Amino acid sequence: MIGMRARIVKELAKRNTVLTPDAWEYLDELDYPERIESIIDELKKEREHLPFPVCKENISCYVKEEEEHSEEKIRSKLDREPMENVKVLKDVSGESTCTGDVDDFQKYFKDRYETIRAIVEKRRDGKQARPINSIKNRHGEATVICMVRDIYTSSNGNKMLTIEDTTGEMRGFISGDSEVFEEDLLEDEVILAKGEVWKNDGNYKDTFAIQEITRPGIPKLKERSEIDFPGKIAFLGDIHVGSDTFLKDEWDDFVSWINSDDQIAKEIRYLVVPGDLIDGIGIFPNQEKELEIIDIYEQYRKLAEMFDELPKDITVITIPGNHDIVRNAEPQPCLPKDVQGLFPDNVLFFGNPSLLDIHGLKLLLYHGSSINDLSDMLSQVSSERPITAMKEMLKRRHLVPVYGKKTSIAPEENDFLAIEEVPDIFVTGHIHRTEVGDFHDTIMINSSTWQAQTEYQKMRDIKPDPAKVIVLDTNTNKVSIRDFS
Ligand SMILES: [Fe+2]
Repeated sequence: MIGMRARIVKELAKRNTVLTPDAWEYLDELDYPERIESIIDELKKEREHLPFPVCKENISCYVKEEEEHSEEKIRSKLDREPMENVKVLKDVSGESTCTGDVDDFQKYFKDRYETIRAIVEKRRDGKQARPINSIKNRHGEATVICMVRDIYTSSNGNKMLTIEDTTGEMRGFISGDSEVFEEDLLEDEVILAKGEVWKNDGNYKDTFAIQEITRPGIPKLKERSEIDFPGKIAFLGDIHVGSDTFLKDEWDDFVSWINSDDQIAKEIRYLVVPGDLIDGIGIFPNQEKELEIIDIYEQYRKLAEMFDELPKDITVITIPGNHDIVRNAEPQPCLPKDVQGLFPDNVLFFGNPSLLDIHGLKLLLYHGSSINDLSDMLSQVSSERPITAMKEMLKRRHLVPVYGKKTSIAPEENDFLAIEEVPDIFVTGHIHRTEVGDFHDTIMINSSTWQAQTEYQKMRDIKPDPAKVIVLDTNTNKVSIRDFS
């Protein structure tokens, strides 16, 4: 709220006065931007001379009524959220246990293993999986459900791994001429591995030679959720309000369209926005040179005004991204209440990621930071084709399959990043591309952007595909893309 405090100082300077240190402190502790806004409004109205200097009491008197009003407004807004048909199935918001303790990571990875193990268990086709400790020092065939801790290709062209479960760890081996070698195994993924424990001799003591792997995957035909959906869902993301490359004219065209009599526009009941609602501040070096609005609360205030122009019978579903005001490590909680309070009642806020049930449809929302990591590691994944990365996440049943790359993970006791339930719709953003696809029975959507090519993207020859709205008819599963670019 630095920008807002600067406005107060400016108002006072016009009246030849300044703030005392206790007044500064008081402003620092004010949570809600409305409260500072009310001080500015009152100061503007003040015709009489202001004292010199202005102390805490001189400004706190402007806030009291507004403060109660603000809290009441936020509370009543949250109570009145149109949540009857939107149920939260999984979301870290309000559930975070992460304290930054070293033990947190151990607990996190244990839960990650157990969660995905339970999914792989169902795919073992009668193969009895054994704990790693029970197959050590034996030889012969065995099946384990393990997490791949590390993996490298030896000078002989074979893959050497460390595999582990909750009972212990051992060395794994994949021959360079086996079919399994072609599988793009990633560190930290959980697999069912069938193979042979070699005899306790030579260089390969206590080594498990993997001959076959099974991933958790998703079923080819899943039981379709019972849905009773009243209209269409639209998807758009990465709005980046505040950036000087925000596409204002294109956004205005979209707003005109969605308020028009166009048949598709009239049938839209939900608008899904998977993160990077604003451009934020301090996200990358020298970002301020590319900002049109330099105060983060002003960016949200502007977005709130833009959302206010959308039809009120559309429920707007949002999650944060890496440019928003919440912690950068995933899972990210929903936007703070003071920011939520700026928006109209039909805008809902969830964490990144979130699994929601909308009229019986399971919708998985994830901003998509790990798409870049996967495109760096997997040959079949391209950062220009986000769907290719989303497919790999579904195969591995995890949104951030590898730990320790660009996407940072907050070690929660429960793994909010595991894909425990197969979604009907899986939506991401982040990549600033527009793409729709399906994998088995799950519809995958990457939701465009409202930001033109940035300096950073120019340097790296990254071409965004902006100003598009994807509209899904949930009764026919047909998708149409409206282009405002
Ligand atoms: Fe973005």
